[in-house]
Amino acid sequence: MFILGLDTSADETCASVVENGRTLLSNIISSQVDIHSQYGGIVPEIASREHLKRIIPSIQLSLEQAGLHLDHIDFLATGCGSVPGMMGEVVSVFTAKMLSYVLDVDLVGVNHMEGHIYAALLEYPSLDFPFLVLAVSGGHTLLVDAEDCGSYTVIGSTRDDAAGETFDKVARLLGLSYPGGPKIDKLSRQGDPTVFSFPRPMIDQQNYEFSFAGLKTSVLNLVRNMEAVEIAEQRSDIAASFQQAVVDVLVKKTIKAASKLRRETIVLVGGVAANSQLRSALDRQGAKCNKQVFYPSISLCTDNAAGIASCGYYQYKREGGSDPLELPVFKRNHPLVV
Ligand code: KG4
Ligand code: ZN
Repeated sequence: MFILGLDTSADETCASVVENGRTLLSNIISSQVDIHSQYGGIVPEIASREHLKRIIPSIQLSLEQAGLHLDHIDFLATGCGSVPGMMGEVVSVFTAKMLSYVLDVDLVGVNHMEGHIYAALLEYPSLDFPFLVLAVSGGHTLLVDAEDCGSYTVIGSTRDDAAGETFDKVARLLGLSYPGGPKIDKLSRQGDPTVFSFPRPMIDQQNYEFSFAGLKTSVLNLVRNMEAVEIAEQRSDIAASFQQAVVDVLVKKTIKAASKLRRETIVLVGGVAANSQLRSALDRQGAKCNKQVFYPSISLCTDNAAGIASCGYYQYKREGGSDPLELPVFKRNHPLVV
C-alpha cells in the first residue's frame, strides 16, 4: 500500500510517500526558516500562506521521487491538531481532504507527536514496542510509555515552556537567529559547560514533570547584567552551560522513568532530538544501565511527513480511515494530547 503523508504544522511544508508503513520512498521538507528567522520565530499566518504556496509542489516532488502518480496512492495521512499556537495544519488537512475526496481514497488524521515517534520506527526496522519515548520539540516535552501501536501513556510533560521553545528563547537572548536550537548546539561545541551554573529545574523531584521557564529566566538575568561585548565573548560558554542544564534534566528523568517502568528501550524523537549533546548523553547513560537508545537521523527528527505516513498506515489498519468531510483540523482526543 502506498501512503501519501502531509504535514504543515509549523514552518516546514512536508510531503512523503511511504510503502506499507516501513519503507520510505520520498521525504520532501520545504523549510521556511529563512522567512521566519527575520521575525525571530514562526509567524503563524505567514507560515500558513507559505504552506498554501508550497503544498502542491511538495506533493508533486514527493510523488516524482517515489516514482509514482497520484492514482497509485492508496490513502492519505495528514498531521492534525497537535502543535500549540500554530494554525498551519489547516493547509495539510484541507489539501488531504480535497485529494482524498477527488481520488476517492481514505484519509487518516495523525497526531503530530505520534508521527515523530513513527519516524524512529520507520528508520529502525528492529525497533518495536514497548518502549519509553522522550519526545522533545518546539511545542512539546513529553515522556511517554509507549506500550503498543496506538497505546500510549504520557507520564510527564512540561509545566511551562517546551524544551525546543526554551532553546529558541535562550538563543534569542544570546543574539542568535531562529531556530535557536541548532545554533546553540553548534556554538556549545566551542564552549565550556562548567563556566556558568544554571539551575536544573525539577531534576530531583519524584515525578517525570519538566519546567524550563526558570532556567530561561536565569539566562536572562545573567545576560541582563552583561555588556553586549561581554555576551559576545562568553556566548559559547553560556550556550554550553545552558545546553548542559537542559540535557542533564532530560536525560536523568528519562533514565529514571525507563528503569522504574522496566522499559529496556528508549526512543528519543522530535526536533530537539537532533541535539548532539542530548543524543550522546542519552547513549552514554542508557548504556550504563543496559538500555538500548534509538533516535532518528536529523531529517527525521525535525518535522517531516514520513512519520505521519508511517503512523497513518498502522492507524488505518487498526481503525480504518476518517470521513474526509468530517476530519477535524484540531483533533484533540488522542492519548498524546495533554
Ligand atoms: O519537531 P520540530 O521540528 O517542530 C515542532 O514540532 O515544534 O522541533 C523544532 C524545535 C525548535 O525549537 C528547534 O530549535 C529545535 O527543535 N531543534 C533543536 C536542534 N534542532 C532543532 N534543539 C536543540 N538542538 C538541535 N540541534
Ligand atoms: Zn514537530
